Amino acid sequence: MIGHMEDTPPCSPAPCAGLRIGDALPDFEARSTMGPVKLSAYRGRWLILFSHPADFTPVCTTEFVALAREAHSFEARDCGLMALSVDSLFSHFAWLRLIKQRFDIEVRFPIVEDPTLVIGRAFGMVAPQDNDSATVRTTFFIDPAGVIRAMTCYPANVGRSIPEMLRTLDALQAIDAQAGLAPANWQAGDALLQSPSHDLDDVFAADSETAWFLREMPRKGAK
Ligand code: BEZ
Repeated sequence: MIGHMEDTPPCSPAPCAGLRIGDALPDFEARSTMGPVKLSAYRGRWLILFSHPADFTPVCTTEFVALAREAHSFEARDCGLMALSVDSLFSHFAWLRLIKQRFDIEVRFPIVEDPTLVIGRAFGMVAPQDNDSATVRTTFFIDPAGVIRAMTCYPANVGRSIPEMLRTLDALQAIDAQAGLAPANWQAGDALLQSPSHDLDDVFAADSETAWFLREMPRKGAK
């Protein structure tokens, strides 16, 4: 467990840094704009945990406005959103107030304060070559078992694509539901691909050169 609210000392960053797909994220508990949050409380549903470099900055503001406008789409996929930056809780509040006034949208997903960067460093959200404390735009897609299933890392000066975040989530949920593979440019509703056969007899019996390794899955309900 890492975090600001425990009596126990935080873990040192090193053991948790370098998180990869397939790793379980270490638990943390922290203050957020929606009250205290605990990562493990999200078990049983999907969670997108993402860092942003700083409040009151242009690209981050556009990301939060766009995410707040699409929050219902993540909710419809049973996926929570949780943001994190080095800024204080009161900075987060002031920024969200400004976003509400200027863009007429309320950001109602939690934004964690990480003033000591104990979480950001432990989760590798801080660019190691940077000498300031800003987190980069790291995004973790965490499944209902608490396991990282996808992750992206964008620089401070490039904003994330919310349609791509939704597409990635859709793809992860679809491959879990159908045990298939999502091909390039896959979109929700498109066919998934079958895993290639590991059986030489299937390879020889395949009715085309690619059919043993590049085959669409039968669509649900198709005869
Ligand atoms: C931005 O969100 O616009 C931003 C944040 C940190 C550094 C550069 C840009």
